[in-house]
Amino acid sequence: MNGVRGPQRLSGKVAVVTGAAMGIGRAVARTFADEGAWVVAVDVAPFDRDYPLVEQRFLDVTSEQGWADLADHVRTRYGRVDILANVAGVIGYDPLDELELAEWERIIGVDQTGVFLGMRAFLPAMLDAGAGSVINFSSDWGVVGGVGVTAYNAAKGAVGSLSRNAAVTYAAQGIRVNALVPGWIRTPLTDRQPPDANARVIGSTPVGHGGDPADIAWACVYLASDESRFVTGTDFVVDGGFLAT
Ligand SMILES: NC(=O)c1ccc[n+]([C@@H]2O[C@H](COP(=O)([O-])OP(=O)(O)OC[C@H]3O[C@@H](n4cnc5c(N)ncnc54)[C@H](O)[C@@H]3O)[C@@H](O)[C@H]2O)c1
Repeated sequence: MNGVRGPQRLSGKVAVVTGAAMGIGRAVARTFADEGAWVVAVDVAPFDRDYPLVEQRFLDVTSEQGWADLADHVRTRYGRVDILANVAGVIGYDPLDELELAEWERIIGVDQTGVFLGMRAFLPAMLDAGAGSVINFSSDWGVVGGVGVTAYNAAKGAVGSLSRNAAVTYAAQGIRVNALVPGWIRTPLTDRQPPDANARVIGSTPVGHGGDPADIAWACVYLASDESRFVTGTDFVVDGGFLAT
């Protein structure tokens, strides 16, 4: 803003960010890079343009082989991984009594199994290094019920539990694992939702408006950086007060 920069908060770190072609993931990848990290940004969707310090690659987070190939690539090219942000996610709106098994499996596959596969692929390198920060994307709907969002509710709740499991299992080995819990954020995901559904959630948000991807990206910078070295196993809530009501 005034042309004078402070020290970069992620200088020299290597980060992997999923779901990084748009929305929150894109903001996380770019903000990490702005803060000095080398970023490997992955998605199933195409990336709209290049960004300094961000390497853009295809990864379907439900693919075990895809994760293994990515971990090999990161080890060969960068020699380490300091940060894993599992941002990729999909949502569905079917109530339980109408939810098809295939749709349940699609959402659980990306939102829950994708997080498991990502951690399993990159934990070995973090364990070798004795350090690492993992940020797994949950949601307010991982903490409280949301009408209709059955599989999403289930998967995001599991992300919180799985993150706590990994946090306590690997804390003594220098690895921190936190679940990031966003409230309503303006992204392509929420742009696709019916306006009245968006209005309902925003109307229940005490600050009186939704958030921007940058609001989540800065929380991720904190969780990824050494500033948060005593923070692990949390539901890190960034939601304009939604869960406080
Ligand atoms: N936007 C919100 O209000 C909100 C609120 C709470 C939680 N979240 C969570 O934050 C994360 C990001 O949400 P967003 O709003 O930016 O969503 P978005 O739909 O705008 O972006 C999600 C990205 O994930 C990618 N993706 C989907 N399936 C994938 C797969 N199999 N492999 C790799 N990438 C895949 C998509 O291509 C897309 O680029 C998600 O986990 C979402 O559940 C969002």
